[in-house]
Amino acid sequence: MHGQKRIMVTGGTGFLGSFLCERLLREGNDVLAVDNYYTGSRDNVLHLLDDPRFEILRHDITFPLYVEVDEIYNLACPASPVHYQIDPVQTVKTNVHGAINMLGLAKRTKAKIFQASTSEVYGDPVVHPQPEEYRGSVNPIGPRACYDEGKRCAETLFFDYHRQYGVEIRVARIFNTYGPRMQTNDGRVVSNFIVQALRNEPITIFGNGTQTRSFCYVDDLIEGFIRLMAAPAGVTGPINLGNPGEFQVRELAEMVIEMTGSKSSIVYKPLPIDDPTQRKPDISRAKQDLGWQPTVNLREGLDKTIAYFEWKLSGRARSVSGVRSPETAYTPQPAPAVGLPVQQAVSIGP
Ligand SMILES: NC(=O)c1ccc[n+]([C@@H]2O[C@H](COP(=O)([O-])OP(=O)(O)OC[C@H]3O[C@@H](n4cnc5c(N)ncnc54)[C@H](O)[C@@H]3O)[C@@H](O)[C@H]2O)c1
Repeated sequence: MHGQKRIMVTGGTGFLGSFLCERLLREGNDVLAVDNYYTGSRDNVLHLLDDPRFEILRHDITFPLYVEVDEIYNLACPASPVHYQIDPVQTVKTNVHGAINMLGLAKRTKAKIFQASTSEVYGDPVVHPQPEEYRGSVNPIGPRACYDEGKRCAETLFFDYHRQYGVEIRVARIFNTYGPRMQTNDGRVVSNFIVQALRNEPITIFGNGTQTRSFCYVDDLIEGFIRLMAAPAGVTGPINLGNPGEFQVRELAEMVIEMTGSKSSIVYKPLPIDDPTQRKPDISRAKQDLGWQPTVNLREGLDKTIAYFEWKLSGRARSVSGVRSPETAYTPQPAPAVGLPVQQAVSIGP
């Protein structure tokens, strides 16, 4: 236990946010999840709702928010291309207006603030693997730009608030992360393949399958978040967090078919515009500054994720340690009810 802080997690009912809330509660903190339920769900945090230290606020971070907090993790933003491209203007607003609002809150409350940035800031990279110094190769006008450029602008804002106002920031560049509680329909490669395999439907590969990705299991990533937030003040990031193991998308599909015992075949479709051909983090900085590196290998992580989707699709749980139905995965801490003084959004700027 690290002691009690008032911690706000925007995007707290999403895939990563729900695991982060759980981890922060386990450490004895008061946790306020702020979410507009765009891609998040109360189902992801149902098992936390009985914990008196946990609270959810339905709020869109493109509007200002006034609460008292010690730390902010800014995760709000749909992460899958399918979702962030439905309403690209809202995606830009979430990244840019949202960052301004959350940084304004951090400035006022003197809270430390963490930004969930992304490997997408590197675009379709010409440097491989990608170190933090690499400035990226992003198409500013393509269909992915609302997310990629939105996240780049958010990084700019974080560093400007840091330089101009002394706000204490932490910026993580997250590479492809997977695990339980991903949505069945979000088009992300790991969840897509598992769901298609479990349904014995053809597995869709976009491109010829030789494009590479690195896959980080969610528990490893959350450990990286906690370490980065706890790092000394000089460690602002940006810092890559991801698994440097590199796999071809085709290899992933074959592994999922084998592990699920599926009858699925593989079908190939054209690669979407601006889809990166190679992705692999250089995590030297995370190793050096945070003493962090992933510990869960792909098979192990896939096993837990497959167990989750088996449960989700059929209602039947398989015995794999670490993953049960979301309702039974967490035992709430006995704790006094300490509420955060929460006010609803008002319409003045940060
Ligand atoms: N999962 C990954 O592989 C990955 C990789 C790189 C970066 N990230 C970043 O990590 C963060 C979390 O990703 P995730 O995988 O959990 O995605 P997710 O879509 O599951 O979660 C995003 C959450 O943000 C909420 N949200 C969206 N817009 C909002 C708004 N305007 N106001 C309030 N809440 C809003 C959604 O409802 C959802 O709960 C995102 O910022 C994403 O860009 C994730």
